[in-house]
Amino acid sequence: MSFQVALNFEDGVTRFIECRPDETVAEASYKARINIPLDCRDGACGTCKSLCESGRYDGGDYIEEALAEDEAAQGYCLPCQMTPQSDLVLRIQSSSAAAKTAAATHTATLTDIKRHSSTTVEFTLDVDDRGALDFLPGQYVNIAVPGTDQTRSYSFSSGPNQHRISFLVRLVDGGAMSGYLHERARPGDRLEFTGPMGGFYLRDLTRPALLLAGGTGLAPLLSMLERLAQNRLAHPVHLLYGVTTDEDLVHVDTLEDFAELIPGFTFDHCVADPGSTARTKGFVTGLMDARTLHDGEADVYLCGPPAMVEAVRGHIARMGVAPVSFRYEKFTPAAVRATAEAA
Ligand code: FES
Repeated sequence: MSFQVALNFEDGVTRFIECRPDETVAEASYKARINIPLDCRDGACGTCKSLCESGRYDGGDYIEEALAEDEAAQGYCLPCQMTPQSDLVLRIQSSSAAAKTAAATHTATLTDIKRHSSTTVEFTLDVDDRGALDFLPGQYVNIAVPGTDQTRSYSFSSGPNQHRISFLVRLVDGGAMSGYLHERARPGDRLEFTGPMGGFYLRDLTRPALLLAGGTGLAPLLSMLERLAQNRLAHPVHLLYGVTTDEDLVHVDTLEDFAELIPGFTFDHCVADPGSTARTKGFVTGLMDARTLHDGEADVYLCGPPAMVEAVRGHIARMGVAPVSFRYEKFTPAAVRATAEAA
């Protein structure tokens, strides 16, 4: 028996290793040829100190100088001493290059291209070695656009346990992936991508969660909801989904299905275009108040274009209700990702 340990590096690269309950995370990393930072290997120096974001473990033996009591209470841990008691997600305080590893490369076949509207397309891939691809719900990959020398970053809209993986793309004039999907893409095409990447992923739910999506920023949140639907844990999770026009509004039926499947999940959506037929017109900020934020006792996950992310951040600051944690990811048409955390 072994547990899966996700090692998330400072540059967003994530590697997954198998770790037995009777071996330390450092030993398992070494066997996987991943050199996480180590010095004493004895719980004395603190060099390997990491943050455990999910899972249970035995912290092992160490001295106060290596890991203080308050740090341990916050979830910091020492991989050279800790042994897993469940699957774990660890944030490693080094780059992947320093640990002599890198994002994995995968190959896949394009199986489906679904045109939701004139602005939004979803495509699905069958990965050659699906068993070798693990990811945390909310993460993204860098996809080489066929027929070009360009890569674009897209968050998984599918869940980590679904066999086929899918991505949502907003079509933009002159965009590399937009051009490919619009003009040349055919089922059977071969694609290559690297990843998973990113620090925008679902943590353990310990308090109400507020999910905020702008446009195709819905994708990583769909992946998170897929995970919640799988676990079917009763927990208050509310999603606010904002788009610019009715054409941009996709997957409302999927959200309705999630509302049936996930106990405690509710959602609302709005469209900025005054001519929209949507019940609520305007921006997601118009749907946010202190109650939505549970007076600050909430974890917030936000993914959308930069203007939307900044508008939400400003709105929360003006409300004077700081959520316990606030994680957000901005994307641009070129899909350069900026992930941040404001806790
Ligand atoms: Fe020294 Fe882990 S390597 S405490």
